[in-house]
Amino acid sequence: LSALPLDGLRRPLTDLRISVTDRCNFRCSYCMPKEVFDKDYAYLPHSQLLSFEEITRIANVFVGRGVRKIRLTGGEPLLRKNIEILIEQLAALRTPDGQPLDLTLTTNGSLLARKAQSLKDAGLQRVTVSLDGLDDAVFRQMNDVDFPVADVLAGIEAARAAGLGPIKVNMVVKRGTNEHEILPMARHFRGTGIVLRFIEYMDVGATNGWCMDEVLPSADVVRLLQTELPLVQLDPSVPGETAERWGYANAQGVHDKTLGEIGVISSVTQAFCGDCNRARLSTEGRLYLCLFASQGYDLRQLLRDPAQSDHTLAQTVDAIWRGRTDQYSVLRSLRGPDSASGPGRRVEMSYIGG
Ligand code: GTP
Ligand code: 5AD
Ligand code: SF4
Ligand code: SF4
Repeated sequence: LSALPLDGLRRPLTDLRISVTDRCNFRCSYCMPKEVFDKDYAYLPHSQLLSFEEITRIANVFVGRGVRKIRLTGGEPLLRKNIEILIEQLAALRTPDGQPLDLTLTTNGSLLARKAQSLKDAGLQRVTVSLDGLDDAVFRQMNDVDFPVADVLAGIEAARAAGLGPIKVNMVVKRGTNEHEILPMARHFRGTGIVLRFIEYMDVGATNGWCMDEVLPSADVVRLLQTELPLVQLDPSVPGETAERWGYANAQGVHDKTLGEIGVISSVTQAFCGDCNRARLSTEGRLYLCLFASQGYDLRQLLRDPAQSDHTLAQTVDAIWRGRTDQYSVLRSLRGPDSASGPGRRVEMSYIGG
């Protein structure tokens, strides 16, 4: 094979996000609204899912083409039976120069207290936990299944005790719903070593009824935090980062590392497509080149075709990546932040993974 592929906008492929289930035990309104994801919703049948062997094989092909970070997502990935076995297999993969991967997982935390130790033992390095508020009533309203916040906090604690770090916490901010949780969340996680990140509510998928009125721009989040907790902007730590980093400042206005940092992820008001190095593999083995894509490439069919070798799979991955020109958020900003989607029904976040 030739050199590692660059896409049509000269972006490398370094990050693979693998969705392992399209199911979730939460019904966050911005992701799986109850009215749509009800008891009659057609989830993927088991026969359609990639097996762990198939996932590991294709992940290894991607590692050969430049991938250095693998994130397991869902739905809720801890609902996938025996996920520890998949983690063991992925943890054994090595880059061409013999390095292990950055192997992480995004979870809603509901099963983390029970599973943190077995995940760590299987070789998972770190976790990112979604948490949209500390107030129990607000949190129950956000997850819309009446799940108590104390159980997620216990999950985060278990992850820390198991050494699954550095831990990140993701909070989706919806104006009018949980914006008053921004400061309590910041106070709670400041100085704990846990990195809290505020995410702008995005127009992802086709079911959440997104509108700009419910987006609180990250600039407003930072301004609100600054009223009580002084911040200084930090340099990006790796290219292609989703979050803009801010450190808590001391009285001299200098970053106090013991207080840690926060991040803001501003897909709506400040697109970060310019160095987007992420590919997404759906639960049934379709490859999506953008969170806002409406079409994926069927890799499962190739994985189940005996005529395909790892070499030909790698050639296919290269060809797909070289043809990529996706930059949805940039284009949406050019059209105006209020504008809706382009052509085609966009794929759901619960299917493709956050
Ligand atoms: P870390 O290595 O832990 O920093 O991973 P990350 O920055 O990729 O973060 P994470 O996977 O936790 O992503 C956080 C959130 O950012 C996701 O849940 C999405 O809401 C959003 N996000 C992540 N990747 C993209 C992307 O490529 N495009 C857009 N528009 N949003 C993204
Ligand atoms: N906007 C922003 N983030 C979202 N997520 C899901 N839906 C949305 C949305 N509409 C992200 C959250 C959650 C992760 C699993 O997916 O960060 O923590
Ligand atoms: Fe489930 Fe996460 Fe979607 Fe909430 S955001 S419904 S926890 S997959
Ligand atoms: Fe990448 Fe698409 Fe997100 Fe832009 S909108 S950062 S291209 S996934």
